Amino acid sequence: MKILKMAVVFAAVAFGTLVGSAAWAQQPVQPTLYERLGGLKGITVVVDDFIDRLVANKTLNRNPAIKAGRKSSPAPYLKFQVSQLVCELSGGPCKYTGKAMKESHAHLNISEKEWKVMAAEFKKSLDKFKVPAAEQTALFEMVGKTKSDIVVRT
Ligand code: HEM
Repeated sequence: MKILKMAVVFAAVAFGTLVGSAAWAQQPVQPTLYERLGGLKGITVVVDDFIDRLVANKTLNRNPAIKAGRKSSPAPYLKFQVSQLVCELSGGPCKYTGKAMKESHAHLNISEKEWKVMAAEFKKSLDKFKVPAAEQTALFEMVGKTKSDIVVRT
């Protein structure tokens, strides 16, 4: 009798495990933003175009602190750091090792208007590489979180 009881308990546990794992297997695995962007290949292509636009932007370069920053942080370096950051924040395998946003931008005296100019250039790069609307929204949300650390005046 005891053996029969044990067998019933064992069968119940085994059945439960099977049902549980089947239910788990049916859960759709949501791709991360990183994956939806095409991984590092997708991210670096957009960041490359974006940094080229920022570096050449006349409105941004009218700010002498930003202009000076172009010398201390050359475009290839910025492309590397920004790609690493976007990769990590979007759920990719990278580890961002650059400076915190406040530390790297505080001395640049960035205004609200300059932020808008940057965002418009970002949009141009995203559109150029046909990043879909949902991923664009997710990226703008992600970048938007850094705004209070970057913009220091109206
Ligand atoms: C109006 C907006 C922005 C402007 C004008 C700007 C400009 C700059 C400049 C000039 C530097 C180099 C600073 C120096 O060497 O003195 C820099 C560094 C950097 N920026 Fe921005 N930036 C802006 C927004 C952003 C945003 C939104 C992000 C990412 C979410 C970002 C990510 C970075 C990173 C990762 C670095 C390098 C940090 C390091 O050196 O470790 N920036 N930025």
